Amino acid sequence: MPSPPASDRLVIRRPDDWHVHLRDGDMLKAVVGHTARQFGRAIVMPNLQPPVNTTARAAAYRERILAALPADATFQPLMTAYLTDQTDPADIARGFAEGVLTACKLYPAHATTNSEHGVTDVTNIASVLDRMQVIGMPLLVHGEVADRDIDIFDREAVFIERVFSKIARTFPDLKVVFEHITTAEAVAFVLESGPNIAATVTPHHLRINRNAMFEGGIRPHFYCLPVAKREKHRLALRKAVASGSPKIFLGTDSAPHAIGRKEAACGCAGLFNAPFALESYATSFEEDGALDKLEAFASEHGPRFYGLPLNEGHVALDRAPSHPPQAFGEGELAVKPFHAGETLPWRFAGAA
Ligand code: DOR
Ligand code: ZN
Repeated sequence: MPSPPASDRLVIRRPDDWHVHLRDGDMLKAVVGHTARQFGRAIVMPNLQPPVNTTARAAAYRERILAALPADATFQPLMTAYLTDQTDPADIARGFAEGVLTACKLYPAHATTNSEHGVTDVTNIASVLDRMQVIGMPLLVHGEVADRDIDIFDREAVFIERVFSKIARTFPDLKVVFEHITTAEAVAFVLESGPNIAATVTPHHLRINRNAMFEGGIRPHFYCLPVAKREKHRLALRKAVASGSPKIFLGTDSAPHAIGRKEAACGCAGLFNAPFALESYATSFEEDGALDKLEAFASEHGPRFYGLPLNEGHVALDRAPSHPPQAFGEGELAVKPFHAGETLPWRFAGAA
C-alpha cells in the first residue's frame, strides 16, 4: 500500500506510557507486546500479588517483563516500588541509586485493586518521603481516599483536601505525579501547584463520563478506579491536556482483566486500552483542535519531569480507520480492548 500524503500522517517522537499495569505470568506475556509496540518506555505499576514492594522484587519483575517481550522489541520497563507502612527508606534509596527503581507508588490501603498492603496513613511513610525528596525520586499517587463513608465520586476531591495538600506542604520539594486524574479539582490542584507536582491523564477519562457505565444496562468494561466522573470533569481534563501544560502527560493506566473477571457479579476495575492508546489520544486531541499538542504530551513532558532523556526514534499515525476487535486472546486470557467495536479515525503505523 502506498504511504498516505504527508498531511494524513502524523509523525511524533516515540512516546512513553507513564502508568501501565503489565501483570505477571501468562497475562504479562499476552499484553506486554501491545505496550511495547507503541511506547519506548513505561512506568510499570507494582500492584501484583504479592506486591512489588522491595528493590529485589522490582529487579526480578523487570527480568520477567524483559523475558516476556517480543524478540524485536526495544521497549524499556521503568520499575516502581509499592509503598507499605513498613517500607525501608534505605532499600528504596539503594534501588533508585542502582537504577532498578524509577519511582515509588502510594496506594492508600484498600483504595483499589491489590491495595490491601498499601499505606494506612501517610505519617507512617514520612521517613521514606523525606528520603525520596532528598534524592529526587518521584512519588506516584493513587489519589483517592478509601473511606467507605465518602461517596465514590468524591474520593479524589476529598483525597486532595485531606492527604495530597498535606504531602505537598510537608515535603515541598518532593516530585509527585498525581496519577490518572479524573476531576476538575485535580486539574486545578496540579496546575496551581509548583513545577514538582504533575499529573497523568488516561485515554478513557478523556472520552467517557460516568454515564458510559450505565448506557442501557450495566457496562462493566467502562468501570475503573478512579471511576469516570460527570461530563464537566471530562471537559476539564480535555481542556487541561489541550492547554499544553508541561505538568500534564500521558499515562494510559491500561489495566487488563480477563473478560470473565469483568463480566461478573463483582467485576474488577480497569480498562485495557494499550492496543489503541495512541489512536484514542489522537482522536481526542484532534476533536479539540489540539493535535499540535499531542507530541509534547506523549513524548516530552513525561521524560522532562522524570529527568530522563527523550526517546530517539519516531512513530507515525495515519489518518486511516482502525477497528478495535471485541477481544484479544482466548479463555482466561481473553481481554476486551477499550473502543471494542468502534471505528477510530487514526491508525498506528509503527516506526517512522
Ligand atoms: O481501574 C483500576 N485498575 N484502577 C487501579 O487503580 C488499579 C487497576 C488494576 O490494577 O486493575
Ligand atoms: Zn493504575
